[in-house]
Parts: sequence; structure tokens; C-alpha cells
Amino acid sequence: MNYEKKPIPKQGGLFYGADYNPDQWQHAPEILERDIELMKQAGVTSASIGIFAWTSLEPKEDHYEFAWLDAVMDRFAKEGMYVFLATPSGSKPMWLSEKYPEVRRVNKDGIRDASGWRHNHCLSSPIYRKKTRAINAQLAQRYKNHPALALWHVGNEYSGECHCELCRSAFQDWLKKRYKNLDALNSAWWSSFWNHTFTNWGQIQTTDASIDALQLDWLRFINDQHLSFMLNEMVPLRERTPDVPCMTNFMGTHEGTNYWQWAEHVDIIANDLYPMPADCADSWRYSIQSDFIHSLMRGMSGGKPWMLLECSPSSVNWGKINKLKRPNAHRQEVLQAVANGANTIHYFQWRKGRGGFEKYHGAVVDHEGSNQSRVFQDCAAIGRELNQLSAVYGADCPQAEVAMLYDWESRWALNASQGPKVLAGGGPFKGDLYTKLCFDHYEALTCCGINVDQVSTKSEFSAYKVLILPALYLVTQEMADRIYQFTQGGGQVVATCLTGYVDLSNCCWLGGFPGAGLAELFGIWNEELDNLDDEERVKVMGQFSGFARDIAERIHLRGAKSIAQAGSEFYAGHPLITEHKCEVGHAFYLAARFESAVLVDFYQSLATRFDLSCTLDADLPLGVVFRRRESADKKYGFLFNYTQETHSIDLKEHSFLDFAVSSNCTGKLELKPYETRVLQI
Ligand code: GAL
Repeated sequence: MNYEKKPIPKQGGLFYGADYNPDQWQHAPEILERDIELMKQAGVTSASIGIFAWTSLEPKEDHYEFAWLDAVMDRFAKEGMYVFLATPSGSKPMWLSEKYPEVRRVNKDGIRDASGWRHNHCLSSPIYRKKTRAINAQLAQRYKNHPALALWHVGNEYSGECHCELCRSAFQDWLKKRYKNLDALNSAWWSSFWNHTFTNWGQIQTTDASIDALQLDWLRFINDQHLSFMLNEMVPLRERTPDVPCMTNFMGTHEGTNYWQWAEHVDIIANDLYPMPADCADSWRYSIQSDFIHSLMRGMSGGKPWMLLECSPSSVNWGKINKLKRPNAHRQEVLQAVANGANTIHYFQWRKGRGGFEKYHGAVVDHEGSNQSRVFQDCAAIGRELNQLSAVYGADCPQAEVAMLYDWESRWALNASQGPKVLAGGGPFKGDLYTKLCFDHYEALTCCGINVDQVSTKSEFSAYKVLILPALYLVTQEMADRIYQFTQGGGQVVATCLTGYVDLSNCCWLGGFPGAGLAELFGIWNEELDNLDDEERVKVMGQFSGFARDIAERIHLRGAKSIAQAGSEFYAGHPLITEHKCEVGHAFYLAARFESAVLVDFYQSLATRFDLSCTLDADLPLGVVFRRRESADKKYGFLFNYTQETHSIDLKEHSFLDFAVSSNCTGKLELKPYETRVLQI
């Protein structure tokens, strides 16, 4: 689709609000009126409305009812508040899913969903696409000139897969486009393995996990199919409201969606993030996980402000144990997003519903209904504070000197390949080895006070001093050449275990890993991969010491020098970290998953050697993080204590203006557990 990215409407730069479901309260006009009053008290500027309201908008097929939404829109406009109007495709009306069963998803076992639940429409159904377009056209036509309409909230958290005949045949068509003929497909897929040569397109199904190239293409297809579903939804919006920006809510590092591609089609990056409070000594790591995801969003937004579109003001209701946030933690989470470039903070949800799956999910307004609750008062205080920070919203996060690649293609190819360790574990990255490896490096850099920009394979690397490629498992010749050019231009490149194993169709590179010429660039041959039990550790010795875990490669030097070696196992003495001088730059290979201490030492040495700047020239303890936003003439700093302990920070010669108390801080600054200071530098 050809369109110009729309500027975000101006209104002080900040959006503060929540998902709001007035459709559920039509029988209680007094509650709706009270909502407006409470929103004003909480400093709310905006709300996402109508996300799951299709039946209220179209109670019978082709019979629309907008009176309730007219009233809400008018009321918002009257108060000078904005609406992110949702297209309601996230859940299907009963009349629709009963009349047209094809709109319901089919699972891997071939069983079609019953009507109900949500986020479970067929990705390919022409009827569902037609129906969503029709309701979207109605919404756009009706509200195109409405002063409350600020943005389109298109769909909700597109995700999941469908294995119905429509999707299967769409997959086959997608493959025809990609490979043109079956010989090309069979060759790319290495189909002679286990007798899987296809002689007819119709034989290709969607679930055969033994064909790893099929699995990879299936993931690509699912991503493309969701994306095309969203673009189809946008057609009537773009036609009728060319000036209203469109966004959809991403889910961080969600597996099924390559958001780098999605970022090209939306006007604003918006993300949902629900950090879970952790009561452990290293709970600060969880906060850095949020930073990691925020920085990915910032990378996608290309320097424009992005939106934290959903977070919980208190607990969620879907975790194993749904803890309340500890004092200061909520404010800190909000300011973390702002420090990473967000100018929007929206909660899920404004008010708790009386019934349904989410009746105990955190909300700004509790069942009790007043402004007296702890959470309401907390949100209102944050609303006031965010309002005071208006100068910050015109500033951006400074470009980093270090870039780190996050690549869904490598992640998909690795996860579709049998052999490399599958990690156990929960948290936002679950058992995803690829993302955990990326995070390890981001975390170590953060501990060194080094800012990181996350980039895609399409990004321009030349402005960076250091390019980090965690587990770039899938590598094309073109990408390998770009990495080579980066070092030729004087850049330092860091690759890790699991780099350069496969090509675009998940087939292994021949001639020794890392493939596509990267073995020459790194000056190594990676001969074998050792998967370690969870509790097993391999000792690391040399310039850096500590332990490797989960994955260790047995590599040989082919021109590089070893700067750290294995100190245990039968490959003791073999290199685990190598350095190779290439023209002007250097190529470092880290042949294992390392514990944090090794990575922190490694990046500290890189920082000294290549003169990388820190976000703050001060000694910050582990778990205390400083981030910046800067405009041409103003600089702001965010000092976070992510730990459960009080820390005293020596600001040395720095003197900052603390926004909250409007006074200067110098010398020693005390940070209580989860405390955050917003400072003018
Ligand atoms: C999100 C979803 C919201 C709400 C929330 C609860 O994934 O978009 O509608 O369900 O989770 O945490």
C-alpha cells in the first residue's frame, strides 16, 4: 500500500489513558458519566475504544448501531480528550461465527474452534476479511471528521495460526509465488529427506515438523497472512481518513510476527508490555528485560516517539501468581518506557468489568468505583507527573554507538531446527534461546552503561562503532557481505554461537560454519556444537573468566587469536572467544552462551578499547541504570534503581535538576528500592 506516514496529532506530545469499554456499560449511564469525571481527575488524555465491541456496533448482520459510540465520542470531544478508535476484528460476533463457520480457526488436529473466545479468526477467510472491511468502512465514514478521533487502533494483538483448508491453500499459493515451480521448492526444502518430494502443490500441508524448511516458510506465511489481514482492514481507513494515523498493538518479541516488516506499514509503533514483579535477588534483570523490549520498539520507530499502548496499573490476572506491584514499581515501569522514547502510556484497563475472564485484571478504576483506591491515586499521581514532563516529549533518545541485530528469521530457522538446545523457562522470552541470547548481550551492555540501538537486517550499520549479531543463525550471502563491508569500514563486529549455520531455506551452509564467507571474516572454523544440561557449566579462562552454559561450540583458529578458552570439558584449551583483525575493524566470535560476568568483562574491554561512551560518567551498581533523552538544546536523564535495595550514587562533578522536587542534586544521591529520578542535565 502506498501512503505517507501520518504525523502524530499534537497535544502536548503526551497521550495518557487506557483501554476503555463503554460498550459493556450501556445499561449504566451513571457509570459512564462517572468515568469521564474520574478520567479528568487522573489526567487522562485519551482512550482506546471499541476493541471488542463488534456486536454492539453491528448487533445483526448489516444492521449498525452507533448511537452509543456517538455519545462517547462526543463526550470525549467535549472534554478535549482523544479516542484511539479500534477496528473490532479481535473478536467475532456470535451471529457471524455461527452463520459463517469458515471464520473460525482450525487447529493442527483439524478441529474447528467453537464460537467464542477471541483472537481466533481464520487468517484467510474471504468472508471475515469482507466483514471486517465493511464494519471498518462504516466506522471510518461515520467518524472521519470527528474531533475526538486521533488514531486508528487496528485489530488487536494479531497472533496465532489456522490450519483450515483456506489457509492451507493460501499457503500453497504463497509457496507458488516464492518458488515458481516444485523442483525449486523440493530443492530448497531438501525434500528427498524421508521421501518428502512433492509432485503436486496440493500435497503440501501445514504441519509437518520434520520438514524444517516448511516450518520456516509456514512461519513466514503466517506472519505475511496476518500482515495482509491488517492491510486489508486498513484499506477503508486509509481511503476515508487519509490524515488519521493507523497503528496496531505489537507484543514485543512475539514469535509469530516479524514486527520489522509490520513497522513499515503502520504510522506509529505501539506495544503492549506486562512486566511481572519478581521477588528475587536479581529482580533488576526483569526490568532490563523491559528495557530490551522498549529499545526494540524504539528501533522500529526509527527515532519517532512510540506508544506503550497496554500495561497494567497493578496486577494482571493471567499469570501463575498475580502479584501486586511493589511501591514505586509502577511509576518506574512507566518512566522506563518514557526513558526509552515512548510518549504514550496507556493501561489495560480503565475500569474492571463485573464479569468475564478479565474481571480481576488490574485497572485504574476498581469495582468499588471511587477515586480512593491505591491504584487510582497512583495513576492520578503519574498522570500529573507525566504532564509536568512535557518538555521531555520533544526530546529523543540519542543514537547509540552500538547496534544489535534482532532477527526473526534467524529465530524462526533456529526454532524449526532439531538439535540445538531448547531452553526451559518462563518470563517474557519463555524458552526462546534466540531471544535469550540477544538479551544476554543487551543486559551486559546495559550493566556497562552502554546504550544500544536495536536494528534489523535492512538497517544501515555504518553509523555504529560496534555491531552485535547474537545467534545470526540464518545468514544470506548478501547479509554476510554487508557484515564484511562494515568491518572494512572500520567497524567492530561481535558474533556469537549459532551464527551462520543455515541459508534462507534453513539448509546448512557447506564448507564449515559460520557460512557465507563468515568463517574467513572471523578467522575460525566452528566444528561442533555441544548442548549442555541446565546445571552444567564450562569454565572460561584467559582474558575473560567465568562460565559458559547451555551451548558451547568447539571451534578452531583459522587466522583469529583466542582471547578466552574453555577451562573444562574434553575441549579444554579450545578457544571460546576469538578476535580477528580484518582490514581496519575487528571481528569477535563468542562461541558459547556465557554467564553475565564474562559478557560484562568482554564489553567493558571493548568500551575501553574502542572508546564507547557511557550514558553517565559515574560508577553505577548492578541494577542501577541511567538513560537519556535529548533535543537540540535540552538533555534529560532518567536514573533508575531496579533493585530492592537502597543505593547511594556518587554523581561526582555532575549537577542535575530533579524534576519531581525542582531542586538540584549533586554529590551523593540516595536511591530507594525501585526509585526513579527524572533529571534535567
Ligand atoms: C492483552 C490484550 C488485552 C488484555 C490484556 C490483559 O494481551 O490485548 O485485551 O486482554 O492482554 O493483560
